[in-house]
This record gives sequence, structure tokens and C-alpha cells, in this order.
Amino acid sequence: MQTVPLDFLGELRRTHTCGELRSKDAGSRALVMGWVHRRRDLGGVIFIHLRDRDGVTQIVFHNDVDQEVHAKAEVVRSEYVIAVEGKVAPRTPDTVNANLATGEVEVVAEKIWILNESRTPPFPMEENVDVSEDTRLKYRFVDLRRPHMQRNIILRSRISFAVREYLTSRGFLEIETPFMTRSTPEGARDYLVPSRVQPGTFYALPQSPQIFKQLLMVSGFEKYFQIVRCFRDEDFRADRQAEFTQIDLEMSFPQEEQIFEVIEPLVQKMCAVAGYEVKTPFPRLTYAEAMRSYGSDKPDRRVPPMYPVEDLFPANALSAHGLPLMAIHIPKTGALSRKERDELKAFGTERGLRVFDDAKRLERDHPEPMAQVRKRTGAAEDDLLMLASWAGEPAGHLPENTAYQACGQLRLFAAQKYNERHKLLDPKRFEFLWVLDFPMFEWNSDEKRWEAAHHPFTSVHDQDLDKLTADPARCRAKSYDIVLNGVELGSGSIRIHRRDVQSKVFAALGFSDEEARRRFGFLLDALEYGAPPHGGIALGLDRLVMILAGENSIRDVIPFPKTARGTDLMCDAPAPVPERQLRELGISIRKPQ
Ligand code: AMO
Repeated sequence: MQTVPLDFLGELRRTHTCGELRSKDAGSRALVMGWVHRRRDLGGVIFIHLRDRDGVTQIVFHNDVDQEVHAKAEVVRSEYVIAVEGKVAPRTPDTVNANLATGEVEVVAEKIWILNESRTPPFPMEENVDVSEDTRLKYRFVDLRRPHMQRNIILRSRISFAVREYLTSRGFLEIETPFMTRSTPEGARDYLVPSRVQPGTFYALPQSPQIFKQLLMVSGFEKYFQIVRCFRDEDFRADRQAEFTQIDLEMSFPQEEQIFEVIEPLVQKMCAVAGYEVKTPFPRLTYAEAMRSYGSDKPDRRVPPMYPVEDLFPANALSAHGLPLMAIHIPKTGALSRKERDELKAFGTERGLRVFDDAKRLERDHPEPMAQVRKRTGAAEDDLLMLASWAGEPAGHLPENTAYQACGQLRLFAAQKYNERHKLLDPKRFEFLWVLDFPMFEWNSDEKRWEAAHHPFTSVHDQDLDKLTADPARCRAKSYDIVLNGVELGSGSIRIHRRDVQSKVFAALGFSDEEARRRFGFLLDALEYGAPPHGGIALGLDRLVMILAGENSIRDVIPFPKTARGTDLMCDAPAPVPERQLRELGISIRKPQ
């Protein structure tokens, strides 16, 4: 494809980056290198905006200074890679570019080297381009040159550095754990890697380093961390990828409190890298409180909580079966039109709720209770105020939670729908919180059995040990999540360090001794060799960087992500492999049914 003669880099060295030159440099010489961001040809004068990672510098080529250099500048096009040497000149006040950090100066070119040419890029290197995500992902190497993608990836690197610096200063050791291992317990499907030397056997890629970090505590390292890739074969969403990165840590002899004492300043430092000041300590809610007040185990606290108000109304007036009646209010939303109220109602009805969307009517029919509702919620006249209760028979193992959850969804739906009016969901407002005391078990209604809500190595609350088999639904775990603006950022727990307790939990989960041995035998063995009390947490690095970068998808903070269908559009993976390779692995492919 080569169309212009190219120069060698040879011994050329840059003296400045493209973001560095200022008015104090006027008069000095500079040699800069980068990509042609923009080129304007005014006949006798050519202006090039030269871009590198650091910024943009204007280069000017005068025909009357050096015809040969000017002629070379005529052939370069967008995204050519060039080096330019010349004198830094101040710009006249009327040509200063206030949008560029280097905008007070320009480099008057005396030499130019064309280091490489470029095909016309599939889309311009601008902040906002009107191009499909598929095209961006196919040409990711070009997409990543765009300013906001550069900013995101650089921010990510700086945040990772701050994490390493901080955790190391707190005595944590960065220790690597294997990628080719056995199935781990996080509950998603594993990615498998076939073994060539032992045909018919497979490694699993780790869903997290959970078991290894526990083993490192048994081995006496006391404080471990890792910025580590995890692999989960699950459905992708805006905040999920098959490969994602955790800041994973584990400590020996901790109470929950000590984990929080490590994590809060860590998160504070990560936010500071992005320029945000965050106050600690973070508020704490138990799982039960979070469900009651927000109908969610990851509350978005930028919107006010809901309040149970069934006690204010005559029995069974608006709610039945002793299930809650919730007051939901969204500030400064103003009066809704009939159509808007109908939309809210329809959303709630689809989720099994009875929605009382007409506050005026409620106030007419129940003046006294409604006055109390306003008092309890603090809802003002121009706030959206509605009541909701569960419409049918009680549902689920914890019917009140089913009702809270549906009300919580209605609350968020309303908050998101009218954000333009109240602007509560400001992406630059950070409302962190801890959610504590999750249930130990969750009912898997497809398989009709209890599952570990976090993972099976989580400690049960000391007071709830007797509920392990008697009342699993109400058995609380020593587990905690850190939540930001409705997103689960991280999750952890105090672990079981005693072999006898671990056996009881496996039994409650319906694992036979044999199955527990087969899956996690090495951990069970380790628990018999002086395992210290230990606990830890893992934060989703991609998710926090996404929020700090102001993005809506973790794909925008991962250099080479996969599409929602798990495809890498750039290298076209996953892909079939040659028959020979399959034969070597002892694998034959069954035709899909
Ligand atoms: P958990 O499975 O909750 O806990 O994961 C911890 C955090 O990792 C992030 N995360 C993800 N991010 C992007 N894509 C995904 N597919 C994805 N899955 C999880 C989330 C989540 O909060 N071993 C335990 C931690 C522990 O107990 O110490 C674990 O992995 O932000």
C-alpha cells in the first residue's frame, strides 16, 4: 500500500512530547513525533496538529521558509506518523488556541521525517464519533487513539498504580495465583483449557483466586493482594465481561472492621486519582435494612429511600397478607400527567404490585394517614409521591423481600425516568455504602435447592449457626458488599477456617462428603493444617474505573473487550482450530443439535 517514500527513525530522539511546549519554550528548538491529527493546507502555509499520548502541538510549514519541507508536508494525511524539528515560536494573541494546553506556541518546521503512512481511518479520532460499537471494536487499535479512550486507559493505569502503592504500604504482598487450575466456586460456568499431555482432562480458568488466596493465608503470608484477571462464562451486560479484573485481597486474623479500614482509604485513593474527593467512613446498612429501604442489595443512595407505611392505614386497606405498603417519593419531580402515572402503574403491575399513583386522591380518601406519610418520608408538595404494595398471594421464601424488590424497581424506574427534572442521578456524585450480613443461602428455584449466596467458604454469623439447616432462609453470613450508586463494586466475607464448620456448610448446601472432597479436597485438607481465621474482599476494577471515567459500559475502560456475545471482533475469537490440533488434544467436535 506504500504511496510515499518513508524515512528511518535512525538516531532521531524526541525532545518534547506533543503536550509539553508552553510560551516559556518560545525560541528554543524542538523535535516532536506523533500522528497527524488534523491538517489544513492554506496554499503557501500548511498547519498540522500533531498528536501523541500527551497532547497536541501545532506545526506550521511555510513554503517560503523551505520548499522541500513544505512539499513533504503536502503529501502527509490523517494518521501518518511523522517527526518534525523546528523552532518554537509564540503565536500572536489572535491565533492563540485556548483549547490546547500548547496553544500559545507552535513549531515552525525546518525538517520533517515521514515515519509511516496510514490508510484513511474508519472513523475520525474525535471525542464523539457517530460509529457503531462493532466498528469501533473491529478497529480497536484505532479506536483506542481517540482522546477519551486514551484518557480512560491512562486513568486505569494510574489507578492500578495507586492500588499497588497503597496496598504495599499497608503491608500487603502481591502474589500471583495460577490461571490454569481447577474449577473455582463463584457459581458461573468455567472456561476450560484441554490438556495435551493428559488427553481428556481439562484445566479451568479461575472465576476468581478465591481458594488460592485462602491457601496463601494457611501458608502464613497474612496479607495478600493481586490485580488479577478472572474468567466467567456468563451472560454479558454493560457491567460484565467474560474476562474482567479484580483487586483481590485477603488478610489473616481480621474482623470485618479491619477489612473496611483497608478498603475505605483504598477507594478514596482510587477516586482521588480521578480527581474526586470522597469522604469516609462509608455508611453501612444490613442486607435486611437495604432491602426494606431500597428494595435492593445494591442501593442507589442518590435517590431517597422508601418507607414502610402499612401501620398508618387501617388494616388491609391498601395492602394484604401482612405484606408491606411502601411509600416511594422522588424529589422535585412535580405533578405527573395522567399518561406518565399510567406508565408507572403499568411498570409496577407487571412486577406484581398494586400502585397507588394518585397522591391527591389518596390524600382525599385517607387525609390523616397521608399527612403522616408526608411526615415520615419528608415528601414535599412538588415531589412525586406514590404508594405500592404486593398485589397477589405472598411469593418466595421471604415474601416481604419479593415485595420490597418490586417496589425498589419501581422507585429506580421513576427516578431514572424523571432524572431530567430532579437531576439526582448525577454521575459525579458518589454515594458509597457497605451492605452487611447477607443471607448465607439463596434458593435456586430451578434446581430446587439452597445455594451459597456468596460462596460456600463464607462464615455464618456466630448467632445463626443453629439455623444452618433449621432455617437456611434466615441464616446470615459474615459477608459484605461495597456498593456505589447502585453498582456492586466489590464483595467479600470472613471465611470459614475450621474444618468442622466447613463440613456443616457443605452439608447444608446438599454436597455429599464425597462431592465436597472431589471439588475442594485440597482446601479441606489445608483447613486441617492450622488455618488461621481469615477474610477478604475483591473489588471489580473495571466497574470502578468505568464510574470514575464517567462511562456507562465497562467495555470503554477495557482495552480489548468482547462484544455482548463474547466475540473479539478484532482478532475474530473464538475461532475453530485445525483438525490436527484437535486430534493432538484428543478432542472431537459434536455437531450442534
Ligand atoms: P464476586 O463474585 O462477588 O466475589 O466478585 C467480586 C467483584 O468482581 C466484579 N465482577 C465482575 N466485573 C466484571 N465482569 C464480571 N463478569 C464480573 N463478575 C464480578 C464485581 C464484584 O463485586 N472471590 C470473591 C471475592 C471474595 O470473597 O473475596 C468474588 O469473586 O465488581
